[in-house]
Amino acid sequence: KRVAVLISGRGSNMQALVEAARAPDYPAEIALVISNRPEAPGLAWAKDQGLHTLALDHNLYESREHFEGQLQSVLGLAKIDLIALAGFMRLMTADFVNRWQGRMINIHPSLLPAFKGLDTHEQALAAGVRISGCTVHFVVPEMDAGPIIGQAAVPVLPADTPETLAGRVLAAEHRLYPAMMAVVARGQAHMAETGLVWQRTDF
Ligand code: GRF
Repeated sequence: KRVAVLISGRGSNMQALVEAARAPDYPAEIALVISNRPEAPGLAWAKDQGLHTLALDHNLYESREHFEGQLQSVLGLAKIDLIALAGFMRLMTADFVNRWQGRMINIHPSLLPAFKGLDTHEQALAAGVRISGCTVHFVVPEMDAGPIIGQAAVPVLPADTPETLAGRVLAAEHRLYPAMMAVVARGQAHMAETGLVWQRTDF
């Protein structure tokens, strides 16, 4: 499977995906790394790694539709099969999301459906939860709401700050995302109208 990873910043999840995809038996290749911010540190890292990279500065497009139109044509030219959002901070239109339904995944730093949106670690600490974690899910038009592909849990400790919790969750993200992208790339999990479907033979 040819994968495009979309980033907006640091790109540590993209780095984890790139490193996992180096394994000879990994069922996907990172064919393209795209950032909506040209100055994203992850883009420079990807370029240094010799990966194909592209900056699509959303400020250069007068509408979301124009930005997505350019994105769509690049994805088509690169024959991309699967989009992995990794710290991509732009909401996609329902039209784009529906076109990539079942072929676009995202990682969110909480145990969805808890703590959707931003500042998830602040939300978790404010709620006093004892367990937090991260979720890989198929993307649907509603934000942070698609069928869950996998989750990883981490403890919340009494002395935790948003930063210490974020660090613990991020380490789990870097293990979960490569594993779940492989599950999707192998077709072991896919998105049906009714939600997520596992292939019984593999689990
Ligand atoms: C991660 O916490 C991820 O869960 C969320 O935004 C952050 C991106 O980090 N989507 P990075 O850019 O992958 O380092």
